[in-house]
Amino acid sequence: LRFIIHNANQLLTMTMIDKSNQLGLIEHGSIIIEENKITRVCSANDIVPKIDKHTQVFDASGCVVSPGLIDSHTHPVFIGSRECEFGLRIKGATYTEISQSGGGIRSTVAKVRDANLNELVSAAKPRLDRLMKWGTTTIEAKSGYGLNLETEVKMLEAIKILNQRHPIELIPTFLGAHEFPNEYRENHQGYIDHIINEMLPYVAKQKLAEYCDVFCEEGWFNYKDSKTILQQAKSLGLGIRLHADEFKPSKAARLAVELDASSADHLAAITDEDITLLANSNVVATLMPSTILSVLGKQFAPARKLIDAGVTVALATDLNPGSSMVESLPIVMSLACMIMRMTPEEAWLATTINAARAINRTHIIGSLEQGKQADICIWKMPSYSYLPYHIGFMPEVVIKNGEVIYF
Ligand code: NIG
Ligand code: FE
Repeated sequence: LRFIIHNANQLLTMTMIDKSNQLGLIEHGSIIIEENKITRVCSANDIVPKIDKHTQVFDASGCVVSPGLIDSHTHPVFIGSRECEFGLRIKGATYTEISQSGGGIRSTVAKVRDANLNELVSAAKPRLDRLMKWGTTTIEAKSGYGLNLETEVKMLEAIKILNQRHPIELIPTFLGAHEFPNEYRENHQGYIDHIINEMLPYVAKQKLAEYCDVFCEEGWFNYKDSKTILQQAKSLGLGIRLHADEFKPSKAARLAVELDASSADHLAAITDEDITLLANSNVVATLMPSTILSVLGKQFAPARKLIDAGVTVALATDLNPGSSMVESLPIVMSLACMIMRMTPEEAWLATTINAARAINRTHIIGSLEQGKQADICIWKMPSYSYLPYHIGFMPEVVIKNGEVIYF
C-alpha cells in the first residue's frame, strides 16, 4: 500500500539545503510512504498521483507537513498529581523548599511504590494519548519515582509495555538517581552504593533501559556522586544524560562534556564558561521552558547564548507531576520563542532533528528523507512560523511508522 501526502504548502524535510534554508523547506512538496518508510520526498510537480486500490492520496494543499515531533525528556509514568505544591509556589515557596519539607519527588515515589504494574500503565496511557494529539511520535521516558530496585524495575517494565501497546515510541531511561529515598535520607552514600552495585547491573543485564540519567544539582546528587554513577552506567553499556544546572550551577554541564553524554538538560543556571565547553562537544542542550515557568523560576536557560555559541539545542516538555505538567511540544515551542527568543526555525529544529540527536536516532527519525521511518505530522496552517505564533495549535493528522494514529 502506498500513501501519498500531496502538494503541501510547505514540506519541512529538516535536512538543511543551505544556510538560508536550514529546515530543508520544499514549497509545494509531496512525500510518498510505502509500508512504514518514506520512499520519496519531492516537489509536487514531479509526481502525478494516480489513484488505484493500492494508493491512498492525502491532499495537503494549504497545509504544512513536518516530521513527527520528538520529546527527548519526559517522566510520563507516575501516580497522582501535585497541584497543591503549585499552589504553595504561587504563595512564595520554592521547588527546593517544598522538596525539603516532605513534598516533591518523594511524595510521588510513595504513590508509585504502592501501585501495581497495571496501575502504572493505565495512569500513563492518557498522557501518551495527549502527547500524540499534540504531534509527538517519539519520547524519551524516565523511571525515577521508585528509588528502590523493585519499583524502578516496575516503572521500566511499565515503559516497555506502553511502548508495545501504544503507537508512541518510548525510549527508556533509568533515573534511580532522581532523589534520595526516605530510607536513605541519612545515608546518601548507602543509596549511591545501592544504585551502583544493585540497580545499574540489574537494569543493564535485563536491558530495561537505553540511558542512565542523574539529577545533578545542589541538594540532590553532586558532581562527584553523579560522576561515579554515570561512569558505572557507561561501563555497563548505557548511554548518558543529565538533569544539569537547573537551579544553580552544579558543574553538571561540564560533567556531561567529560563523559560525552548524549544530552545535558535544563541548563537554566549554566555558566558562560560551561556554554563554551558544550559548544566544543557533541552534547545536545535540551531546554524545557515550561519547567521554569511552572516552578516560577526567574531565570530561563540562555537559549540565545547557547545557540549563538554553536551548541545544538533541543526542546522538551519534561512532562512530570512536580515541575512541568504539560504534554504539548507546540506550546513549549511557543514559550521558547516568546520567552527565550528562539526563532521559529530554531524551535522546529529543536523538536525534530536536534531532539533526534539527543536520543541518538538521527538515522531513523527527525527528518523527512528517503529510507527514514514515516513519522509525520500534517498541520492545517499557512506556514511553519504559524505554529509557535498560535499558542496551543494542534496537528490535523499524525502518522507513526506509516500508520495514521491521530486524525
Ligand atoms: O525534571 N528536576 C528533577 N526532576 C523533575 C521534577 C520531578 C518532580 O518534581 O516530580 C524535573 O524538573
Ligand atoms: Fe526532568
